[in-house]
Order: sequence, then C-alpha cells, then structure tokens
Amino acid sequence: MRIRQAAGSGAPVTGSLGIPPRVAASAPGRVNLIGEHTDYNGGPVLPVAIDLRTTVRVTATRGAAVTRVRSATYHGIGLFEARRPAPSDHWSSYLAGVVAGLARAGLTIPDVEIDVTSDLPVGAGLSSSAALEVAAALALSEFVDSRLAPIEAARVGHWVEAGFVGVRSGIMDQYASALGRAGEALYLRCDTETYDFVPFAEPILIVDSGMPRALAASAFNRRRAECDAAYALLREADAALSSLAAAPASLLDRVRLPEPLGRRARHVITETARVRAAVAALRSDHRFAGDLLVESHRSLRDDFECSCTELDWLVEYLMAQDGVTGARLTGAGWGGCVIALGDAGALEHARGRLVYDYGQQFDRRARTWLTRASEGARIEL
Ligand code: GLA
Repeated sequence: MRIRQAAGSGAPVTGSLGIPPRVAASAPGRVNLIGEHTDYNGGPVLPVAIDLRTTVRVTATRGAAVTRVRSATYHGIGLFEARRPAPSDHWSSYLAGVVAGLARAGLTIPDVEIDVTSDLPVGAGLSSSAALEVAAALALSEFVDSRLAPIEAARVGHWVEAGFVGVRSGIMDQYASALGRAGEALYLRCDTETYDFVPFAEPILIVDSGMPRALAASAFNRRRAECDAAYALLREADAALSSLAAAPASLLDRVRLPEPLGRRARHVITETARVRAAVAALRSDHRFAGDLLVESHRSLRDDFECSCTELDWLVEYLMAQDGVTGARLTGAGWGGCVIALGDAGALEHARGRLVYDYGQQFDRRARTWLTRASEGARIEL
C-alpha cells in the first residue's frame, strides 16, 4: 500500500469531521484469565472482553477514489484504495487488511472515510489490533448492508493477522473481542472453534508493566516453531495425536523430548489441564481458583520462558497483598500485562501502592485498570 499525504485530484475528499458517520461499531480489548500459548496448539483458552474499546466510524466519501483513515488516538493519516488493499507498516494496514478480508468473504467495500477512536493502549498486550480489526469488520460490513455475525468478524480479524499482516498468532484475541459478554468468560476450544460461556463477575486488576515488547514477535514465532517440533516428535510415538494440547502427560513421560522442547510441551499440556480445572471450579463454586493463576505463571516463567523480571516482580508483589487470590502474566508475555484477582477493595488498595513501588524498583511507570468481564463487539450506529 502506498501511504500518500494528499488524496490526488478529482472531487475534493470531504473529511468525516463535521459529517455524521453513517455507521459505527466498537470492539473491546481482552485479558486472558488462563490458557496461555494453548490456542495455536489446539488447546482451550478462557479470556474476557474488557471495558476498554476501539470505535470505528465509517462515512461515504464524496466521490474520491481513495479510502482515508484517520484517528485522534493513533498518529498519521493512512490512505489506500479499497479495490487494491495491500499491507504496509502504517497502522492503517489493519484496515486495508479488513477490506481485503471482507473481499475474501464476498463483500465489496467501496472507498470510504474511516475515523478510529480508542481508549485501549497500543502495544500493552491487551489486543488493540484485534479490537481494531473486529470493529472495522463489523462497521464496514454494516456499511454495505451485509452485517457480519460476530464470529465471522472474528474470523476476518484473524485472517488479517495471519494472512495479511503476517503474524502467526492464534485465534483467541479476535474471538474474545468479538464474542465477549458482560459478567462471563469465554471458554473457547481452539481445535474445534466451539465455545460456551462461564459466569465470571469478579473484578480484575490489570497492570501494564510498561516493558517494550519489541522482541515479542520474534520470540513468539520461535516458541511456535518449538511447539510444532515437539508435536511432530510426539506424533512419531502416537500417530493419532491430534494436537500438542491433546497429548496426555504420560506420553511426555514416555517420549522424553529433547530440551527445551520437553519444557515447552509440558507447559502446553499442564496449562490445558489448568484451564479445564478453572472452568470446573467456576461452574461448581462460582469462584476462580487463584492458585491456578500462580501455577500458570510459574509454568510460563520456567517452562515456556516468556516472562521477565518485571512481570515476575509484579506477580510476587500482588500475591503478597492481603485479599489478592491469584496473579499471573496475561497475553503473549515478554513484557505486557499482569492480571490479579481477589477482593475488589484489596485490588484497589494494591493498585495505588503498586505504581509507586514499581517505579522505585524499576524506574518505569506501570499503568493499572480495574475492570470486569465486558460486552464484546457491537454496532453503535
Ligand atoms: C498472543 C496471541 C494469542 C495467544 C497469546 C498467548 O496474544 O495473539 O493468539 O497465542 O499470545 O496465549
């Protein structure tokens, strides 16, 4: 895609400022309660949508043969032709990708004006790109009177990552953003893409470590390759094994994978069991078993090796606070966010002191949000 600063000749492009948008849709970010690095291994995840959202407004152009994307939140104006969307390293590439993804789904999107606003931080691991993709897929499909179902918007969004932008992430982020519900967690089985909801009304404290995640993409791809290699070796022992997450722990004992593949596989297999245990406990006791969060964090730290000093410090700090029942890194890791569960008053109390103490320890500013499971993507206008 060429990013041009001016829209070329012909009829003047009228900005969407001052013109009411024809349609608008919004989609939230997510945190994952448990089930980390399981989605692309065929395992289950348990994310919730959060109350930080991205809104995409779409207005007709007045005859311009270009789609103009702008945002008071993100920087720079992006331009692309809806008939020829191509990837670029500008943030508007996600929107060009959505137009391309909708074309694959049979929808022809004309050139339009797109405005984006968001209160989701970018690069903190709260899935701001998934929220943008899902909101845009909903808004643009609505604009051509062919509104996608939320799950279809999630599929378009995931295709944008995997097939357009070129990031090999799993399906969790877009599904959580599209399908999330207030007061419920999404129990998604990523091998079959089947899901249901588990009641989850507890407060969630999110802490952004503020660690730059520059190396996260390459580390993520390396872990995926290790998981693929572990699965290939396990299949030599059991040809019927459908995914790494489906491997029984006994198979791991029997096959003795070379390191680090053994530890990577152990994380995926034990994390899969933890998701199931968390869902069972939520269904029977209506409470999240906080110990599972701490075990998940240990496994991510020691076996999957995707934590860092700051995230480990935050988890230990939070666990030392009265009334906090569980904490762990959430999302891909290598920086990004930690979540903590527990009594609302305790989380509020911990939050105030934490920002100061973290700053003293690391000379870095943490950001915090107290949230609850919130509604997924929706049409606003
Ligand atoms: C990122 C990816 C997800 C998932 C998590 C780790 O957020 O986008 O698909 O793999 O990491 O659980």
